[in-house]
Amino acid sequence: MENQSENILYNDLKEAFLLRKDISFLNFGSFGACPKPIFDEYQRFQRELEYEPVQFILNKGPEYLKESRIRLAEYLTCNSDDLVYVPNPTYGVNIVARSLDLQPGDEILGTNIEYGACDRTWDFYCAEKGASYIKQSISLPIKSKEAFLDDFRKGFSDKTRLVFLSQITSATGLILPVKEICEEAKQRGILVFIDGAHVPGHIPLNLETLGPDFYTGACHKWMMTPKGSSFLYVKPEHQKQLDPLIVSWGYQADFPSHSQFLDYHQFNGTRDFSAYLTIPKAIDFMKSNDWWGVAEDCRILVQKWLPKLCDVVGSEPLAPVNDEFIGQMGSVPVQCKNPIELKQVLYNEYKIEIPVMVQNGQAYVRFSINAFNSEKDLIKLENALAELKERKLIY
Ligand SMILES: Cc1ncc(COP(=O)(O)O)c(C=O)c1O
Repeated sequence: MENQSENILYNDLKEAFLLRKDISFLNFGSFGACPKPIFDEYQRFQRELEYEPVQFILNKGPEYLKESRIRLAEYLTCNSDDLVYVPNPTYGVNIVARSLDLQPGDEILGTNIEYGACDRTWDFYCAEKGASYIKQSISLPIKSKEAFLDDFRKGFSDKTRLVFLSQITSATGLILPVKEICEEAKQRGILVFIDGAHVPGHIPLNLETLGPDFYTGACHKWMMTPKGSSFLYVKPEHQKQLDPLIVSWGYQADFPSHSQFLDYHQFNGTRDFSAYLTIPKAIDFMKSNDWWGVAEDCRILVQKWLPKLCDVVGSEPLAPVNDEFIGQMGSVPVQCKNPIELKQVLYNEYKIEIPVMVQNGQAYVRFSINAFNSEKDLIKLENALAELKERKLIY
């Protein structure tokens, strides 16, 4: 089938997105948003699938999947055989957590600012194996990279088997110094798993120089592919120990490929894997629209507005406001009685889609900025927060 989705260059990138125009969409961080050319590519693959289901699922699809992995590996700087596609990062964390040979007393070292679903995954598998998931407390606001590292180091013990750390955190929206942690863990002989759900397409990522043992990232967030497209990277020496999360034809395969890792994890029975196939298109889209330039403009806007918005509600940013810690998301700590109500009021009354997240008893209004946003959205948010303070929904 002919590829009809050209690499359109947009004068106004807002036009590239399918998002409702009457809502200020400040929650790109949760599930991303897919530009039209990438969404068209998705539907093109889905049509091709329905045109010839058997040929697609058994023959063409696996070839497309391989091509897609090669392009993603090039983008992330790693070997394409060290990557498998997973629907979401939590799925990737489950594969590893389930398979690690944890002994009673062993420890997984995370922080108290990790993503809730991943916390639950580690809690579940650690409980099953008699191991412990340590949520090392990080002092907020983070004063400096050294202060973060000092806090984190307190969590190491002679029982630590693996470090699990977000490269960009969820509720707090902070970039963390994972390179230093990877190096330190290596020196201590401890494995590292980086949760990079928010990283690809947001800040540059080079898996070869970062050198984690395991890394998971979402493509459907900042790379803007359709929902359900993420990856798990695993260093070759650990691939054989990973059990499939879904046992299917790749286990005891009739026709094994050159890689047990691919056999076990890439074919999970009948499903539509079109979202994975759009990754090359997303990489082309970002390239032809100077996405690192777009990301920089967005970052500048976030860094300008984060202190202003904190001022409005009487709080302060969670880390120094610079490129070391702040990318395209800014989390504003707020005091409020009812975070769920606050989110609903922001949407229903002010037409602002923005998450209000609670972690360790603290609520955060987290704004994300992407190509379709402008200063207008932030002025709208500033006015809304000021009014909500007057209305005592924020105090
Ligand atoms: C830090 C972090 N890790 C992992 C995830 C993965 O989310 P899920 O697997 O629920 O899609 C997210 C999603 O927002 C996240 O922010």
